[in-house]
Amino acid sequence: PLIDRLYNASQIERKLAKKLGIERVIVVPGDSDRQSRVFDLMSEELNSALDLLLPLGKNIITVLGGKTTAQVAAHLSPKLSRYRDLLFVPGRGALGESVEFQSNTVAQVMASRTGGKHQGLYLPENVSAEALNLLIQDSDIANAISNIYNSDVAIHGVGLAEEMAKRRNLDAITKSRLREKGAVAECFGYFFDQQGRLVERIPRIGLQLEDLDKIPHVFAIASGASKAKAIRAYMHHAPKQTWLITDEGASNMVLKGK
Ligand code: F6P
Repeated sequence: PLIDRLYNASQIERKLAKKLGIERVIVVPGDSDRQSRVFDLMSEELNSALDLLLPLGKNIITVLGGKTTAQVAAHLSPKLSRYRDLLFVPGRGALGESVEFQSNTVAQVMASRTGGKHQGLYLPENVSAEALNLLIQDSDIANAISNIYNSDVAIHGVGLAEEMAKRRNLDAITKSRLREKGAVAECFGYFFDQQGRLVERIPRIGLQLEDLDKIPHVFAIASGASKAKAIRAYMHHAPKQTWLITDEGASNMVLKGK
């Protein structure tokens, strides 16, 4: 039944997809700011959407970190692997965040839920350019990075600028510059203001926003009324093939233009 629903977007879902300029929006009932069950519903939708869209055979899935992607990993099912060979690769080698939200952990959980494989990528977030240049010559790291660039699917969240600046341990000067420039959203190390203007870019190893264009299936997962502004801001930059999985809390606010 969930698969049938995926073919038939509701009027609100169509309206939102048009407004945000992306391929598909899936809205689950509730508001994740107040109801954690929303994450289970989004997880089930992600599972069905992957089952619908992924070709049979080998698939590389790049997974970004965050509380949302960590929670939607829960209901991915082994059925996804029935005629497929799934390899989950972390989009970043972030060691800055709490372990349970790091992309390495989320990729690992998704692999174990689906019976797929997982490739680790362990790189510190804040190192000098020289150190990074050396690190990416390592063959395991180079291989993981080339898998990221050749992935069939990307799954990522959309963060609140202020929270992400804190979680990424940005220095006080950068934080106050972000505030001054009105940053509301963060995604892949890019910060955007309410109009979707890029206000800051923190260079990082791994998946970059411009790489998303080449990835056939992109899932952005973000929910809760508190994320409406961030979702709108980021969607100015989302590639057309993006599917947004969200909830009523966020979607009602986005439609109202709040
Ligand atoms: O770091 C990956 C990421 O998906 C970012 O794109 C985003 O800013 C953040 O995680 C979202 O985290 P959360 O789901 O915890 O708000």
